[in-house]
Amino acid sequence: MKTENEKLKKVFSYHQQTKHSFHRSADSPNHLDWKNQPDPFRRYHGSSVISLPLETAIESSLYDALYYPDSNVTQTFNLESISCLLRNSMALSAWKQAGESRWALRINPSSGNLHPTEAYLLTPVIENLSSTPMITHYAPKEHGLEQRCLLPESLWKLLSKDFNQPVFFIGLSSLYWRESWKYGSRAYRYCHLDIGHAIAAITLSAASLGWHCQLLENMSAHQQRILLGLPDNHNNETEQPDCLIAITQTKNQNPVLSLPEQAIQKIALCDWQGEANILSHSSVSWDAINAVAVACEKPTTEMIALNEVAVTKKTTQHNYSDLKAQPIIQQRRSAVAMDKQTTIQAEQFFQLLSRLMPEDVETPFNVFISSARVQLIFFVHRIEGLKAGVYCLTRNPEVLNELKQQMNPEFIWEKVKNCPENLPLFCLVEGDAQLLSRQLSCQQEIAAEGCFSLAMLSQFKNVLEKTGACLYPQLYWECGMIGQVLYLEAEAMAIQGTGIGCFFDDPVHEFLGLQEMNFQSLYHFTVGGAVHDDRILTQPAYNIHSQERKRV
Ligand SMILES: Cc1cc2nc3c(=O)[nH]c(=O)nc-3n(C[C@H](O)[C@H](O)[C@H](O)COP(=O)(O)O)c2cc1C
Repeated sequence: MKTENEKLKKVFSYHQQTKHSFHRSADSPNHLDWKNQPDPFRRYHGSSVISLPLETAIESSLYDALYYPDSNVTQTFNLESISCLLRNSMALSAWKQAGESRWALRINPSSGNLHPTEAYLLTPVIENLSSTPMITHYAPKEHGLEQRCLLPESLWKLLSKDFNQPVFFIGLSSLYWRESWKYGSRAYRYCHLDIGHAIAAITLSAASLGWHCQLLENMSAHQQRILLGLPDNHNNETEQPDCLIAITQTKNQNPVLSLPEQAIQKIALCDWQGEANILSHSSVSWDAINAVAVACEKPTTEMIALNEVAVTKKTTQHNYSDLKAQPIIQQRRSAVAMDKQTTIQAEQFFQLLSRLMPEDVETPFNVFISSARVQLIFFVHRIEGLKAGVYCLTRNPEVLNELKQQMNPEFIWEKVKNCPENLPLFCLVEGDAQLLSRQLSCQQEIAAEGCFSLAMLSQFKNVLEKTGACLYPQLYWECGMIGQVLYLEAEAMAIQGTGIGCFFDDPVHEFLGLQEMNFQSLYHFTVGGAVHDDRILTQPAYNIHSQERKRV
C-alpha cells in the first residue's frame, strides 16, 4: 500500500463496513465453532518460566493514589514490585465455573472475555528477578515470566541510553483471531478497545507503586515487533505489536518517545528461546481485518512532546480517603444485568467525571502526549440531584464550539448548575433516556437499567486526515482507557460498570444530529447497581498455598 490517502480510504471503508445498524450487523461467523475456539493463553514452548510471587510485603496504596501517584511511596524495581504491577493489571482475577465449563477472568476486561491482548517485558538487571537484562512474555495463568531473550548489559545500556534513571518497558500486542473467532469483522475495533483497557490497567497499577508510564509513541510497529520477538509472517494467527510503555520511578521532564534504532537492530540478532503455541487447529481469515491492520501499521514518527499538560484543576474533593487500591482493582467485574433501582448522588457522579478529565488527574491519560480526542455523551437515568436526560462532557475544551455547530441545533447546551464550576458538563436534552439508550446499545437492557450509560464520541475524519491512518487504533485506546477508569470508579462507589462494544453506530450519530464523519461513537459503557448471578461458582485466581509449597 503506497499513499497515506489509500490507507485512509481503507480505514474509512473498514469503519463503515463494520458498523452495526438496526437492520444489518457487521459481518460475523454464522455459528460459533466451540471446538476451534482459540486458546486464551499464549505460551512459548521451550522457554523457562520465572515464577512471580503471588503475595508480597508491598502494602496497597490508597485508591486515590491511582490518579495522583505518591512519590513518598515509590517502590524500587525488584521481583516483588514487578510482580505487584502485573498482579494488579494483566493477571487472572478469578476462575468461574458453570456445569462442565470453567473459565478464567482477568484484572483487565475484554470484549466477550476473549482476551486478545498479550504483554511482554523488557527489563534490566533486577534484584531477585534476573541477573541479566531480558525480554520475557507474561503468562497470566501461571503469573510467571517466560524467558524469550537474554541481553548483554552493554546492549541494555544502549537501549535505555535516553533515560536518565532506571527504566523498564512493557509491550502489548493483539491476537485478532481470538476476537474475530466470535465477532468477525468488528473484532479489530474490540481488540483495540481491549488495548486501551490494558494500557490504563498498567498505568494505574504502576501509579499505585509510585511509578510513571509513557507510551513510546514514535516507534514503528516493525521496531516493536523486533523488540517483542514476534514473527513477521502474516498468517491468521498473526500477533500484531501495538504499543510499548516506558515505566520509570519519576516523571521524565522531557518524555522519551522512541528507542535507538541501533539497539533494536542488535536485539533482532539475539538468540530467542521458545516457540509460540498454536491457538486453534484452523483459523478463519477476515479480509476486512487484514486490510485495516496493514493500513494502520504504525510507521516511525517524529512527534515532539510540547509543554506538559499541567494538572491544573482539581474539580472535586475526593472522598475515598481510606479506600485501598488493590481490593478495588482485583474485585473489578462487569455487571451482566442491572437492578433498575440503585441510584447514586449527583456529587458522586461529578467526582467520577472529574477522574475522566485529563487535566484533573495525573494518570492515566498522560501516557499520551496528545490532547484528548474523545468527548462523552451521557444518558442519565438514576442520579439523585441531576435530572434524567442526555448530557455532554467535553474532555477537550477546544472541541466545544465544533460540537455545538455540528450537533442537533435543538440541543440546549445548558451548563449544569450544581456541578463544580470547572466541570464542562452540559445538558443537551432533558427527559427519560432509558428507551433511547437501550435501543442505541443494540437493545441491551444494561444500558437502560443502571444509573447512567454513555457513548464515547471521538474526533474522527479530520484528525485521521491530519495525523494519518495509524491514529485509528489509538482512538479506540483512548476510549478503552476511559472505560477502565469507569470500571474502577464504579467499584469504588460499590456499584459496577460494563463496557458495551455492541451499539448501533449511525443511529447514535443521527440522534446527535451528526452528519459528517468528523465525530464517531467508538464505545459505549454503562454503570449501575448490578444483579449477581449466584448459579456461577467463583474460585480464586491462583492457588497461593500450592505456590508456597513449591517454593519450600
Ligand atoms: C471492549 C469491550 C466491549 C464489551 N462489550 C460488551 C457488550 O456489548 N455487552 C456486554 O454485556 N458486555 C460487554 N463487555 C463486557 C465483557 O463481556 C466482559 O468484560 C468480559 O466478559 C469479562 O468479564 P469481566 O469484565 O467481569 O472481567 C465488553 C467489554 C469490553 C472490554
